[in-house]
Parts: sequence; structure tokens; C-alpha cells
Amino acid sequence: MLTQHAARRLICTPSRTDLVRALSVQYRASSLGFASPFCATRRNGLSRARPSLPLRQKWHHIEQVRGAKRKATIDLDDIPQGAIDAGADSLPVQDEEPEYPPLLQQVLNNMLKFPHCVMVTRVGGFYELYFDHADDFAPLLNLKKSKRKTSKGSKRPAVSMAGFPAYQLERYLKILVQDLNKHVAICDEFVNDAPTKAKGGPDYTRRVSRIVTPGTLIDEHFMDPWQNNYLLSIYIDPEAISKDNAVKKSPSSKNVASVLNMPRTEVGLAWIDLSSGDFLTQSTDIASLPSAVARIKPREIVLDSIFQEAQYSRIVSILEEDGHIITFQQPSAQALTVKDWVPMLEDVVDDFDPESFRPSEVAAGGSLLYYVKHQLLGSRTRLQSPVRHQAEDHMSIDKNTLRALEIRSTIRDATFEGSLLHSLKKTVTRSGTRLLTQRLSAPSMSLSTINDRLDLVEEMIEYPQLREDIMTLLGQTYDSLRLVTRFTVGRGDADDLVELSKTILTTSEIVGVLREHSTSRKAIPQDPEKGAADDRRRDCLLVLQKRFELVHPLELAERILDAIDEEGLSEQHRIEDEEASEMVDLSQDVLGREAGEEDLKPLPKRIQPKPHMISPSFKSATDGRDDVWIMKRHASKTLKRLHDSLDSMAEMKSDMEAQLRKKLGTSSLTLKWTPNLAHIGHVKGKDVSRVTEHYPKSLSSSKSTRSFQVPEWTQLGVQMDQTRFRIRNEEQRVLGDLREAVVHNLVKLRRNAAVLDELDVACAFALLAMEKGFVRPILNASTSHNVIGGRHPVVEAGLGEQGRRFAPNDCTLGDQERIWLITGPNMAGKSTYLRQNALISILAQTGSFVPAEYVEIGLVDKVFSRVGSADNLYQDQSTFMIEMLETAQILKEATPRSFVIMDEVGRGTTPEDGIAVGYACLHHLYHVNQCRTLFATHFHALTDMTRDFEKLGCYCNDVAEENDGTFSYVHKLRKGVNRQSHALKVARVAGLPEAAVAVAAEVLEKLKPSADRMNYVERHEPVPGTQSEATMSG
Ligand SMILES: Nc1ncnc2c1ncn2[C@@H]1O[C@H](COP(=O)(O)OP(=O)(O)O)[C@@H](O)[C@H]1O
Ligand SMILES: [Mg+2]
Repeated sequence: MLTQHAARRLICTPSRTDLVRALSVQYRASSLGFASPFCATRRNGLSRARPSLPLRQKWHHIEQVRGAKRKATIDLDDIPQGAIDAGADSLPVQDEEPEYPPLLQQVLNNMLKFPHCVMVTRVGGFYELYFDHADDFAPLLNLKKSKRKTSKGSKRPAVSMAGFPAYQLERYLKILVQDLNKHVAICDEFVNDAPTKAKGGPDYTRRVSRIVTPGTLIDEHFMDPWQNNYLLSIYIDPEAISKDNAVKKSPSSKNVASVLNMPRTEVGLAWIDLSSGDFLTQSTDIASLPSAVARIKPREIVLDSIFQEAQYSRIVSILEEDGHIITFQQPSAQALTVKDWVPMLEDVVDDFDPESFRPSEVAAGGSLLYYVKHQLLGSRTRLQSPVRHQAEDHMSIDKNTLRALEIRSTIRDATFEGSLLHSLKKTVTRSGTRLLTQRLSAPSMSLSTINDRLDLVEEMIEYPQLREDIMTLLGQTYDSLRLVTRFTVGRGDADDLVELSKTILTTSEIVGVLREHSTSRKAIPQDPEKGAADDRRRDCLLVLQKRFELVHPLELAERILDAIDEEGLSEQHRIEDEEASEMVDLSQDVLGREAGEEDLKPLPKRIQPKPHMISPSFKSATDGRDDVWIMKRHASKTLKRLHDSLDSMAEMKSDMEAQLRKKLGTSSLTLKWTPNLAHIGHVKGKDVSRVTEHYPKSLSSSKSTRSFQVPEWTQLGVQMDQTRFRIRNEEQRVLGDLREAVVHNLVKLRRNAAVLDELDVACAFALLAMEKGFVRPILNASTSHNVIGGRHPVVEAGLGEQGRRFAPNDCTLGDQERIWLITGPNMAGKSTYLRQNALISILAQTGSFVPAEYVEIGLVDKVFSRVGSADNLYQDQSTFMIEMLETAQILKEATPRSFVIMDEVGRGTTPEDGIAVGYACLHHLYHVNQCRTLFATHFHALTDMTRDFEKLGCYCNDVAEENDGTFSYVHKLRKGVNRQSHALKVARVAGLPEAAVAVAAEVLEKLKPSADRMNYVERHEPVPGTQSEATMSG
């Protein structure tokens, strides 16, 4: 204990070492078990990269020396990057051998400084990987690797390198970050100023401008637009966990159960989506942690390095088993407080109350923002004010249920198609879809919130024209949440501005449509029979409409459209596309035959220059091409003035040309600019001889042409070029102003976007209800379920495609019968029935209409399911162990307000044990949890054993046999018990050899008189699905 504390204190001493260490975020190599900065995580199986040992060892060595010498607190930004002045605090050079050439030395320094990252370095038009990064990643990126000698006669081995054209950065980032889960440091080149160069410094400094990790994507094109890209941080008080550990020193303490069984240790969560600015926190406990994390579905989890210590190992492996990508970071020397968050937030809004956050949330949030700051390396972020996710406000759907009910992806192959979300997704915008996903993962517990949502849906159903209009308009909006984020990090370009302004104008049209609707709605006299509920609904759109804040955004939109010349912009894109194809040709030359088809195809429509890359690479005002401007000339006073003077200079030029022609008698004379000769006069044909007298000195000539210098034209041309240059600069300045203006409107723009999302979801649910015949559920505070004619939305759709009909079923749980015990043949629809009722509850509380004829349900606080078997042999957990873990969770957590579905509990062991466990579950659920439960089983004995459970009803479905031996399933439930499992029928349909079926039938027949019969049948019954006999007994 003591040593642990001592160790921790050591780490926390605010010394330079810590700061340096803080940078060395370690990457956890889950399955391979070695901690390398360059190894892939388990999920992608591509982890062939080996640790780059020499670099790391040296780095540690440096760390120690430096830690011993210095104590000053140094900010990240102060640590040198790229080229390092001789006198400064530089990292030692490698060996005794002469230094690497400046470029390689810079790369090496950067690699030392960011040892956890793949370093891609900008060199001219290319990004390059060097040293072992080239060795490791060139094959994974399908790049050609070459060797470069460091200098003539050097004894050093040649350095490996591999590169790709700069415009393909996103494509390779996608592979590195998205597919291989790497951290990538992007190192750009910055021209050094004259004094630096004069002192003998290199021409360029190469500095890491950003680190891209799976959880810190901002506006990369490869991001999934339909999903949030969350980065999550988890905090657990170290003291609490060591206390728990002391309590829990049992032989099984290595098991998952030991963690989940811990007393209610508080856990703080904080998560953000940098692309939309969403920032949320939650306080929960260890037992609920896996489910909370499953709900959030982060792309990356960041944990303080203390989690690498033994007592946290179970928590870490639980997270890893669920496929999460984890990054460990050295915590900041001083814990951050809520006050420290504020600089990263957009204008702090009135309802932001720092006091409302629990200490664990503050700690998680602090470590999250600390991490982000370091990955973004100083670029500004403006997050939305943090929102507390309060567990009691939401229905909790535990991890297994989220999976088992296939809410976001299917169990079998984890695809989106076939999931509930897929069948519900009628939203037309990307951010609307993200809201839909969020709501579906955390349905509401508030009757008024749910009814507000349902009102909107109903209104949209009742007024289809309104819905269509709004959906059409929504389809014309752009993803403004992600759009505005670009501006907060200083990236938004002219196109983004145009898209944003169009979205604002469309929003205003939507408000117009809503306003018109409310007016005409008011004109319809109220129907006294419909009562208060109808009154409420009349106003629902008005309430929504009032939430839009359009005054300032509209001003902004006008300002943008006034300033930006859209025609010029599209002309510019045409030119850029042209240049891009030139680049492709060029890179084709460079890549030579190594390049596959792939390399040549994916050319971005627009090459987006990053702000720091915008170089004044203008050709010349006088190169004969028309000028292309992206701003209208009256966008600023200066622009106007500059354009005016450019115009008059252009006039002067043509006057000059005319006069010269006259004076020299040369009709072919032109004044122009060429890249080699700059400003020249040019003549051809017989005019050539006529100019020799006045301009004897020729710059270049051929038989039929002659170029010569015209001093007054050179002077004017230079002036025109300068003006042109100023216009470009002024355009950039105006663009900068507009960007600022967007950031000023950030809060309003984000709020408007949020209202649009709500409208999108409402319209989508309305459309869904119309298409699929859903009804409005009635929700109340009771603990009963009354579903008439319920259906499974996904199975029904699947059957529909085959022209089959889904048989609806009722479900009335509550005061009369709290548990339904369901028996029946294999394949008769038990599992489907269980799931459909859980789904109906979830949909209802999400605020959607539901697949049934009539639904009245009491709010459900938690949905639990124990269905199917998820083998986790890798983790040394048998089917039965998993089953029991999940069951334990349910029996411990379910409240009288919960809804539980249990499908064939106890099937993973012997029938006797299975029956015993099944009975115990029913007993506990009935007497202790007292929750609504649907329980399907093949253990018919259970129906007899629970006869004295007054509030337990037995239901079943059947097989209908025809005289000719054919049979069909009766999917409709009836009251009673069905002791026939008809397993052999299923076996025959499945294609079990006729002979085997005959033997089975014989055995069954012989067993009939035996008292043991039921038992035997149970023991030998194949389990539905793919489960084999072998796993059954395992
Ligand atoms: N209510 C229903 N109406 C029509 N077909 C159904 C119904 N319920 C289930 N099915 C069909 O029966 C198949 C098996 O259902 P399942 O719920 O797995 O049965 P069980 O759990 O009883 O073995 C489903 O895939 C579906 O095609
Ligand atoms: Mg089943």
C-alpha cells in the first residue's frame, strides 16, 4: 500500500519529467501484451508493427537525465519541436557520428518527442514517413519504401522512407487512424524567416501541428457522418478502489464478477465529440460502467496511467473485451477544476452551474480536456457547455440488452442493416440521425418529455403536407453542428461559409412553414371532445418554433452571401480540380509503376488548403488569365478600392498597348507576363523587325517572334501584381472576419441545429408510423404493461419481404400477472415475442409510435435481457458462466419498475441444474425484484413448480399438425402450458438425415410410458438456433 502511494506521489511531482512523460501517452497493445507505441489494438488484428526499440530506450534515458537536472515547470508549448537552436534546450543528438541532415534530424527529434505517434512529415508536395515508421507502415499503407543515404560517405545505414502526395493525407489518415487505430502526428513545414536562415538555420521548420487519434477527429472527411465520434474519459477514485479490493479478496477475485460485484464505487464519466462540440458528463458506479460505456459507444477511451496498475486490471480488460480502444495518459500534475474547462467552452450559458458536477465527473472532465489539449496542440476548441447525463432521467438499457435487442447493430455480424435503428431510420439529416441514435440508446423517463415528443410526431402525422415540406427543407440543410466546429478550430473555408449561410436561410424557411402552420391551426375551432391533450398538441410546434434564434444568424447569413462570390468560388474549384489532376499526373510520375489503380482514383473534388498552407502562390496579374476572386468586390471598403485601382491599371495597360502599337506600327504587339521573362512586350511576324529600332535588346527571339522589355509596362505590371496580391490578402482578412462572426454566433447556431434535429426525428417517426402502421402509446406512472396486438418491427419487416404475415400478440403484465412463463415448440416465436415487448417499451419511451394496435404502459426504468449465448472462451468464461453473470446482474439490479426478459435461462448446464437455476430466478424475480418479466423456457417442470406463484401466468404457442403429416406453427400465444417441443420436426426441416430422425422417433416412442420421459426429452432437445448438443452441456 505504502509503496503504491509513494510511487504515485513520485509521478505527481510537478517536474519537467512529468511533462515530458505526459507526452508519452502509452498505447495499450491488448492482445499481444506488449506496450508499444506502435502496435495495433486487438480489434483489427493487423498488429504486425514492432516496437521501435532504439528510439524508446533513448527516450527513457533522456527522460531520466533531464528529470534529475531540472525542476522548472514547463508548459507543453515550450518544449522544442522540429529544428532546435543550438543553444536551446535541445534533445541530444544520437551518436558520435556527424548529425543527420537537417530534415532527418528534425524528423528524428519529432519522433523522439512524440514516441506514441506515427510521424508523417510534410516535405514539399508530399508527406513522408522515415526510419522505422517507414519500415513498419509502408507495407500496411501499400506504399513503396525506399532507402536514402544520409550523406555522402557516411557510415550510417541508409534511412528508410516512404511517402504519399499531400492531397492524399486524408486517405492515409483514414487507414492509420480509423482502420489501424493509430495515433498520427502530422508534421507540417513552416518557412523560416530570414534572420533564422541568416544565422545558418534551415529553410524550413517542421513542427507537429496536430495529433490525430480515433477519438479526436474534427472534420476529417472519413468520419462517419451518421454517428457521434466520442472520446470518453473515466475516473475512479483510487482510494475507493483499494478499499473495495481489500474487502473483496476472494479466490475468484480475478473474475469479471469480482469487479461487477464491488460495492457501489462511484465512477465519473466525461465524453466529448470534437466534431460537434457535444460535451457530457455522468456519474455512475462500477457495476453500471460497462453498460454506460456501451451506451456512449466511444471511439476511444482515455484513462489516467494509474489504470495500468494491478488493481484496475479487471476494469481495463472488461473495457478491452468490449472492443474499446484505450489510451493511457500521464495525468496533469495538478487536477483540473471546472474553472479550467471554461476556456475550452463556447460562451458559457446561463444554465451552466459548475456546482452541479460531482467531483468524479470533474476529475473525468479534467483529464479529458487535458488530453484533448495535447492532441490538438494549441488549436482552439469551443465545446458546448457540458450537460450532465442523469441516470434517473433515462431508461437504462444494459449492455447485453443493447446487443441482444440488436438496437444499433445485429448480433450475428454486427452490421447496421437488420438492426432496429436501421429499420427506424427515416431521418433526412446526419445530425438528426445522431440524435435518433442517442435517444434510442437512452430513452426518457419523463412523462412530459415523452409526451412532448409524441405530440410532435402525431402532429406530423395529422398534417402530412407540413411534414413533407419540412422534410424537403431539412434535406437542403447542411450538418451545421459539424460545420461550425470547423470555424472554432480556425478551418472553415469559403464553401463552409456558403453552406452555413444556406442552412441559416433554410432554417428561416422552416420557421416560416411552422409559423404558417400554427396560424392556420389556430383558425380551426377547438374540438371540446378531444380535451386537454389536444390543446397541448396544438402548441407543440409553436413551442419548438420559439426556440429558434434567427435574428443574428440571419444577419450573418446575409453578410456571408453579400461577401462571397459563389460564381468565383465555383470557378476557383474548377481551377483547383484542374491543378489537382496535374498533381495526379505528377504523382503518377513519382509513384511510377508502383502505384496501383487505387492511388490514381480517389482524387478529392476540392483540395482543401489548410489555413497555414495557404501560400501566396498567385501567378501574376498579367499572365493573360482572367482573375478569379472568391469575394465580391464590395465585400469590404479596401477590396472595393483595390479592385477599382486594379481596374484602372488594367485600363492603363490597354491604353499603353494601343499607344505602343500606334507608335511602332505593330498591330501584333501585346504586353504580357511569362513565368521566365516576367513582364514583356511581344510581337510576331513582320512586326519583329519594326521594334528593333526602339527596343534593340531582345529578351528572347525566334524567326517569327520577339520579346523585349518595356520599362513602363514592367513598372505597371509589378504594381498590378502587388494590387492583386493585396486583394488576395484582403479576401483572406474578410474571410477571417466572417469566421470570427460565425464563432460569435456559435451558441445560437448550435441551438438552432438542435431544434432542427428534433424536427427531423419527429418527422422520421411520423413517416415510420404511417408506413408501418404504428400507434401512439399511452404512457403512465403505473408498473403494468398492456400491449394489444404487438409486433416485432424488424422481424415483421423481414417476413413482409417474403410475403409472410406476422402474427400479433398481446402482453398484459402488471397487477394481475407480473410474470409470464412461456413454453412452446422450438421455432414458434418465443424469443421474438420476448424481444418485441422490450422493444415496444424502448420505442415508446424514445418518443416513437409503436408496432401494435393499442399500447398503454407504465414507465420502465431499466430493461434487462438474458437471451442467447455469447461465448467468451477467450476470456475463459463458459457459456454457462456468461449466462450466470448476466443473470446475476439482473437479479441484483432490477427494480419493481423494471422490465426483464429471460430466454431459456439454465440451458447451458444439466437439465436438473438448469431447472434449479431457472426456478431460483423466477423465485427471486417474483418475490424480490417484483418486476415485469417474460420468461421463456423448455423446462416444463418450471410451470408445475411455480403453481403457487399467484401472479404468474403460463402462456404458450403451438404447432398445428395436418392429416397429411405437414405442420405449421401457431405463433399466436394462448394461455396454458405446451409440453410438446416438436424438436424432431425442426430437426427434419433442418435436414437431419431421415435415418437419424427415425432413430430419434423410436427412442421417443419407447420413452413415452416412462415416468422420466419429460426429463429425457428435455435433455435431448436441440436448442434452437445454431447451438449444438456439445455446447449445451458445456
Ligand atoms: N409472431 C410471429 N408471426 C410470424 N412469424 C413469427 C412470429 N414470431 C416468430 N416468427 C418466426 O419464427 C421464427 C422463430 O422465432 P423464434 O422467436 O426464434 O422462436 P423460438 O424462440 O420459439 O424458438 C422467427 O425467425 C420468425 O421468422
Ligand atoms: Mg428462442
